[in-house]
Amino acid sequence: MALVTTSKSDGIATVKINRPDKLNAMNTDVAKEIIQVFETLGRDAEVKVIILTGEGDKAFSAGADIEYMSKITADESVEYAKLGQLVTATVENVPQPTIAAVNGFALGGGCELAMSCDIRIAADTAKLGQPEVTIGIPPGWGGTQRLMRIVGIAKAKELVYTGKMIKADEAKEIKLVNHVVPLASLMDEAVKMAQQIAANSVSGVRMSKIAINKGRNADLDTGLGVELLAWRNCFTDPDRAERMTAFVNKSKK
Ligand code: COA
Repeated sequence: MALVTTSKSDGIATVKINRPDKLNAMNTDVAKEIIQVFETLGRDAEVKVIILTGEGDKAFSAGADIEYMSKITADESVEYAKLGQLVTATVENVPQPTIAAVNGFALGGGCELAMSCDIRIAADTAKLGQPEVTIGIPPGWGGTQRLMRIVGIAKAKELVYTGKMIKADEAKEIKLVNHVVPLASLMDEAVKMAQQIAANSVSGVRMSKIAINKGRNADLDTGLGVELLAWRNCFTDPDRAERMTAFVNKSKK
């Protein structure tokens, strides 16, 4: 049984973490499968948007595997954290835009995984947080870095230091998630957004992602330089020419 499943329809791939009996906690096998799946999808020209979610209606992912971590040495913990950081970096840097459909608990590594997606849509039943300090560690799959970039440093410190879980509505209030929808319509809403993105120019969307991601960690001048290259790159794409000509001719592409 695959620990991570993939289905594809009309240019949209849906990836599911499939370990519901353990609330989709990510042991090393799950982590390695996520990397493999995203590397494969990244090379798949038919895939325009990727939705990431968890199997079942209880958890997106309850994070890194605590049972495994309870037994490992400090050296082994470095390997596990490196694997987790590779998971989040692989998801963050996949060329296609990504939507996390947060279908329940997104805790620790689960929240870090959701944060490595471009957009987060949460079910009204979802709960998010970085509870690592309650088990004696800081976030280790990028949470000390990405959370503050999304919600600001003070809110990130509050969440990380208290380890508290917040409900979907509060997560939206602090901009940790983009939208909150009823659990029953979560996948429909994620697909609807994915379809809207998929209808756009592939290179326009991908170049936007690169410019935003690279620019986020750079100074403004460097970011604007990346934007210029991304812009020029799209002018070499025949799809861009067709779309502009269609607009000028008032005919839909
Ligand atoms: N790692 C390993 N196993 C986990 C897990 C994790 N992060 N989170 C949940 N599980 C397992 C539980 O051990 C349990 O397994 P069992 O049925 O074999 O005993 C199963 O998933 C169901 O979890 P349970 O705790 O019984 O569900 P609950 O509804 O009572 O509580 C949570 C849900 C999310 C509040 C609770 O599971 C929890 O706090 N999980 C850990 C979250 C966390 O700290 N993550 C950060 C890790 S760095």
